Parts: sequence; structure tokens; C-alpha cells
Amino acid sequence: MFNKRVKISELLTWEPQFQEVIVMGWVKTFRNNQFIALNDGSTNTNLQVVAELGLLDENQLKRISTGASLKVAGTVIPSPGKGQKLEVKASTIEVLGDSDAEKFPLQPKEHSLEFLREIAHLRFRTNTFGAVFRVRHALAFAIHEFFNKKGFVYMHTPVITASDAEGAGEMFRVTTLPLENPPKNERGEIDYSQDFFGRSTNLTVSGQLEGELAAMAFSDIYTFGPTFRAENSNTTRHLAEFWMVEPEMAFYDIEDNMNLAEEFIKYIIGYALKNNRGDLEFLAQRLEKEESKLPQQQRSEMGLIQKLEFVLNNQFERITYTEAIDILLASPAYKKKKFDYEVKWGKDLQSEHERYLVEKHFKKPVIVTGYPKDIKSFYMRVNDDGKTVAAMDILAPGIGEIVGGSQREERLDKLEERMREMHIPVDQLWWYLDTRRFGSVPHAGFGLGFERMVQFVTGMTNIRDVIPFPRTPKNAEF
Ligand code: 4AD
Ligand code: MG
Repeated sequence: MFNKRVKISELLTWEPQFQEVIVMGWVKTFRNNQFIALNDGSTNTNLQVVAELGLLDENQLKRISTGASLKVAGTVIPSPGKGQKLEVKASTIEVLGDSDAEKFPLQPKEHSLEFLREIAHLRFRTNTFGAVFRVRHALAFAIHEFFNKKGFVYMHTPVITASDAEGAGEMFRVTTLPLENPPKNERGEIDYSQDFFGRSTNLTVSGQLEGELAAMAFSDIYTFGPTFRAENSNTTRHLAEFWMVEPEMAFYDIEDNMNLAEEFIKYIIGYALKNNRGDLEFLAQRLEKEESKLPQQQRSEMGLIQKLEFVLNNQFERITYTEAIDILLASPAYKKKKFDYEVKWGKDLQSEHERYLVEKHFKKPVIVTGYPKDIKSFYMRVNDDGKTVAAMDILAPGIGEIVGGSQREERLDKLEERMREMHIPVDQLWWYLDTRRFGSVPHAGFGLGFERMVQFVTGMTNIRDVIPFPRTPKNAEF
């Protein structure tokens, strides 16, 4: 019985010809005891359901309140009202689930994003989050489509690992040892040999190392899954649990890597522009309204859709880290001491520097290559200058770093040397080094922060608003 219903997105494409239909959804608003705006999450556009006077008794009328769920049987008729081609004239209306109007937190008015974060379990029912999460879905689908078309193998890498892929020590420990009074060894340290896995384990920070193993057999693979970082960053771009897409390709150098990353980003943006037009137009209007509250110089120069089309139709700028430092040192912002962090060859680029480069200087996405080896991970290929590595970061307007990647060090001796220098346990990663022992090849890969990509496409300024249930320091509700 239930699967006979028509989804509202589908129904809205019909010509009204008095078809008999069943629709279901949640009440957005109810006006004049007659007009119900019904939404089932398939689109932001509500269906107007008309309950002619007399159809419902007093008791039923009371039960049709914002948030209640309904099953409506009726006829599709041309709508005399403005802004819609059709509506459904109800013959029966059944309340499937009541919603106490006094207690339901979502009122038919605008709520702040901060407030909605506190009721993340209900925010899916708002127009903004409806649009955001349909776009998020579309981008995820487009990612699989892109790689599938190119013959990449989707590889599921483990969530629980014993290694720190990035060597940054920002891991969540996984243990079943008792917190009070854990077993200790003779040196007084916790004895992880008695732990569940017989060793110390953590949640993965990246699937890259395992991805590289698979690329050494399938040539081209990608991962797409949750990753975890215990970094205490309370910013609009950091989550403790985020989704990452990590392609890894054998027989690729840094140039091939950049080309693939640029094509990939353009593909998924193009997919959303084509398939999520309504949602993106809604989000564009939302952003424009939000930005109208800001002082002129803080507003975006382009609207959301214009920005996405611009990115699609223009080449990303490609510069080296050294060039980036020179641009920053010569910038008016630097001269006027506007940067909080030091600009100096050898220091990592901070978000303010990245944003200056993309938003003020180039006004488009920028790929920065050739970072100093000391600020990057152990697995990156050392360039002939001995000082820099074949790394690449892609910086996006409004976001900063959206992709981090590199050509990998395929030479066993050089890799071991870097690992020792950086205190990475060579013995524990014997399996990783085996790829360099048996048929090593030049290879490369990158990681796209999926939520940052969703932010870029939806124009949402806070990363907490593009993942259903954000995990951030001091926050794991829902
Ligand atoms: O630059 P990262 O740390 O690179 C890696 O993890 C590599 N193993 C990727 C690879 O080469 N296969 O992270 C990659 C991307 C960043 O550019 C950023 O977009 C995102 O992941 N990211 C985060 N997103 C949200 N919250 C965080 N805490 C993030 N940390 C990184
Ligand atoms: Mg990075």
C-alpha cells in the first residue's frame, strides 16, 4: 500500500489531468483550514494539498499542524494559485503521525544555523538542509561515477589501524583495556599486548597507505570513507570525523596527479550543476541573503552558481610553494602587517595565506606544488633539489585547502632515509615498504576532503552544516 505513493518531485513534473494519486509527507504549513504545504524531502518545492471546506471535521483540522505526517489521496488538478502549475485536491487525508504544534521546535519561520545545529536530528526537514544533503548525496554519487568511468577500483580500507598514515600523531585510540587500572609492563607503560588486537590501535587518519598497496596491483584505485583526526581545531573547516576521497594511481607523476585532480573536481561540480539545479538556486539565494548582512568587502564577488560555473570553465592556477611565498611577501596585506602568521620560506602556509592567494591574488582555485620537505609527510617524493617534495595542495576560494596530495617516494632507500629522519617506525611499516621492494613504480595520489567540497558547492560557511551529525571537540551529540 505504501509504495503506491508518488514522490512530490516526480508529481511536480506532471501535467495536471485529474489523475488519482496518493502522496505522503510532512506538513510545512497549513493555511485557512484548507491549504496544506506538504513536503516529502524529494525536493524543496512543497506540494499544495487542498482540503475543501467540509472534508475534515474539527478534530482532524486540529491534527494537521506543522511537522505532522500525512497520507493524502486525491486528484491532480491545475492550480489557480500563483507559482505552481498543479495541486492535489484531497479526497481523504489521514494523519499518520501527530506533531504537537506547541512542542515541535521547527516553526514555519527562519531559524539560525546555530539553533538548527542543536536540533540536528530535525534540521533535515528545513529547506536549507534538505538542499544541502541532496547535494551532498549527488556529489558522492558523482565521485563514484567519475572513477567508475575511468576504471578505478573502489577499495575499502580499514577504519581501525595500527599506523599513523600522516605521521602527525592526531589519532583516536581504539582499546578495550579498562581505563582504570590498565595492565602495565615492567617499565610501567600500558601493556597493549593484552589489548583486543594485541597491540596499540587507532582510528584511521587516512586510507592512503593501504590504498597504495592496492594501486600496486590494480593500477588505479580510490577510497571513500570516514577518517578521524584528534586535532583540537575549532574552526569552520575542521571536523574530528570527516569523509575523504583518496585516489591512488600507479604510473603517475605529480603532473598527472594535478591533471586528474582538476578534472575530478570539475566533473563533480558539473554533475551537481546539471542535476541539482533547484537546490543550488535555493542555496545561492540563501547565501546572497546571508551575505547581504555583511559589510561590502566581505561579500563574495560572484553568486554561488556563477562561482561554480567559473571554476568549471577556467584552468586552475599552478604555482610552486616558493612562488607563493614570493607573492605573499610582495603583497599589500603583508606590507600592512595584516597576516597573523609568519610568511617565510620553510613555514607552512596558514589558512589566511591560502585565502589571500586564491581570493585576492588569483581569484580562482590554485594548485601549489613543491613544498619544503620538512613540513610535509614522510611518503612524499623528494625533488632533485633535496629540499622540496613533489607535494600538491589545491586551494579553493572561501575554503582554503580542499585537496592534499603528492607523488610518492618509490625509491626504497630514499623512503627509508626519510622515515628515519622523521621518526616513523620503519619496522612496523614493513608491509608498506614491501611495495617498494617488489615491483615499485612511480605513483601518486591525493585526498579530497569531502565536506570541504560540499561546503564549496553549497556555499555553506560552516563545515558543521554539511555533515549530518558533526563530530567536533566537545561535541558528539546525536
Ligand atoms: O592533507 P591531508 O591531511 O592529506 C592526507 O590525508 C593524504 N593521505 C591524502 C592523500 O594523499 N591520499 O588531508 C586531505 C584533505 C585536506 O586537503 C582537507 O580537504 C581534508 O582532507 N581534511 C579535513 N577535512 C575536515 N576536517 C579535518 N580535520 C580535515 N583534515 C584534512
Ligand atoms: Mg594537507
